[in-house]
Amino acid sequence: MNVSDIKNVAGIGGGVIGGSWAVLFAMKGLKVKLYDINDDCIANDKKTIEGNLDFLAANGAIKDRASVEANISFTTSMEEAVKDAQFIQESGPERINIKQDMLAQIEAAAPADAIIASSASGLPIGQIAENATHPERIIGGHPYNPPHLIPLVELTKNPNTTEENVQLAKEFYESLGKEAIILRKDCPGYICNRLQLAVFREMIDLVERGVCSVEDADKALTFGPGIRWAIFGHNMIMQLGNKDGISGMIDMLGGGFNLCADIAAWDTIPADYGKLAQEQVDEMMKNYSDEIGHDNAAIAQYRDKMLIDILKLHGKF
Ligand SMILES: NC(=O)c1ccc[n+]([C@@H]2O[C@H](COP(=O)([O-])OP(=O)(O)OC[C@H]3O[C@@H](n4cnc5c(N)ncnc54)[C@H](O)[C@@H]3O)[C@@H](O)[C@H]2O)c1
Repeated sequence: MNVSDIKNVAGIGGGVIGGSWAVLFAMKGLKVKLYDINDDCIANDKKTIEGNLDFLAANGAIKDRASVEANISFTTSMEEAVKDAQFIQESGPERINIKQDMLAQIEAAAPADAIIASSASGLPIGQIAENATHPERIIGGHPYNPPHLIPLVELTKNPNTTEENVQLAKEFYESLGKEAIILRKDCPGYICNRLQLAVFREMIDLVERGVCSVEDADKALTFGPGIRWAIFGHNMIMQLGNKDGISGMIDMLGGGFNLCADIAAWDTIPADYGKLAQEQVDEMMKNYSDEIGHDNAAIAQYRDKMLIDILKLHGKF
């Protein structure tokens, strides 16, 4: 199968992630059949999708909302969802028995060569696929929320996934405008969540040590490294930061005060941080401008509007 043969996509589960994937596939002109377990879940999935479409239309990210919406159909029959699909994106609950059960149902009705990608955010794809009939076409396709806006997708392989199928999945995601990276080996948390947690651990530590407030830790990240990271990764930032490039930068960092020795190294998140941070985050939200908003829903909309602007700068919209 070639990437141009992929015309019909099945989405399994239409919650936060499945509803967002469905919108992305439909925006790119693919026909999506979205499966969920019952009519109530489908009603919720429709609401999620309509919300995503309303937002995209209001922000000029889709021109013909009706035709995008018409690409998505809904079903409570797994067979109906997958029988004609060339690509299946599973976004059901993150529980191993459910993932394995969904996979068995998918494989019972899907064409034998359809690619099956799991959105799983922690469970290893090897474990999800351990009872599969055709593990060679099963991959992890871990998005970053929300997948219809954030380009990254992390691909993981089970021991039997063929290189050809991983490459096909990568090309398929790239044809949708995504940035796909393939993990060379299994790694808990994959790449993104580990990077994010490493920075967050240090932020928590700085607050707990009394060096700064929660608000200032966020401000330092957003208006310092974060704004550069929205353009280039840290290796390239280091390259640009020294006349001898990244190798010069590493010599410089290695030769000076060893900051690494002072960086947080604890292995569980301090239990008191949730309460401490919540009070300060609540205060921070009160003090935001009306343009940003004062509750989670409004602030998330502001974030997504800004995301669209950044994505436009990257030529992704
Ligand atoms: N939320 C995130 O930020 C995020 C990010 C990346 C990956 N993920 C992963 O994506 C997957 C879905 O997460 P979510 O946040 O969308 O969850 P969710 O709870 O919002 O959605 C789960 C969906 O699965 C459906 N479902 C329930 N039981 C099912 C079954 N037996 N068979 C098929 N579908 C079933 C639900 O009706 C719902 O539509 C998980 O594996 C999660 O780890 C989540």
